[in-house]
Amino acid sequence: MIIAIDGPAGSGKSTVAKIIASKRGLLYIDTGAMYRALTLKAIRNGLDLSDSKSILSMTKDTSLELKPASSGIRVFLDGKDVSDAIRTPEVTNKIFYVADDPQVREIMVVLQRKIAGRQDSILEGRDITSVVFPDAESKFYIDASFEERCKRRWQDFKNKGMDISLEQVKKDLAERDYRDKNRPVGALKMVSGAVYIDTSNLTIDEVVDKILSVITLAQDARQ
Ligand code: DC
Repeated sequence: MIIAIDGPAGSGKSTVAKIIASKRGLLYIDTGAMYRALTLKAIRNGLDLSDSKSILSMTKDTSLELKPASSGIRVFLDGKDVSDAIRTPEVTNKIFYVADDPQVREIMVVLQRKIAGRQDSILEGRDITSVVFPDAESKFYIDASFEERCKRRWQDFKNKGMDISLEQVKKDLAERDYRDKNRPVGALKMVSGAVYIDTSNLTIDEVVDKILSVITLAQDARQ
């Protein structure tokens, strides 16, 4: 069974995907973490991120593993746990170099399908319903208003003790939204057959319940 979730940054999709994975015994696959880890490696190795040749050869020479943990998932880059290091604003703001590259995406898509092929999985990202698993049993587009997503991001930073203004968060998120929706390959979009959920005014439990009821209906329909 494959559950595919797409949506913009701050829509709440990772939070609900983790909860559903643990409730239903599914493997949780955070595909954004994979693009993050590649970006971190390129930065650490001092690569010119705009040099697609070196980014591609680095990607081919990289081991990425997602290991289930009580917190949801740990991300291993070439055998080392980078779960926290991939969440910095520097990595986030530079991801587009890697994520915009069609050849890098192709390698990631193959890897994501391979990981999900091992057991029932729930994947979340930007191109899961459109490219990675267009035939998934259940597909979702999780959204929230721009204002709400900015507030959530800002609160996340504050919780981590990071001093960043709401204005800066808004600027960064607007830019990321634009890039996520306009990249030549794997752009974020709502596909037909996906269930649209606006989480702006819903609690986490309400979103989880909505998704679970759709999954259950899809399962019943298949039996
Ligand atoms: O889900 P996230 O915010 O951690 O993802 C970070 C970035 O990675 C996102 O802005 C675009 C890229 N990404 C992607 O291009 N395709 C995916 N399937 C997942 C993430």
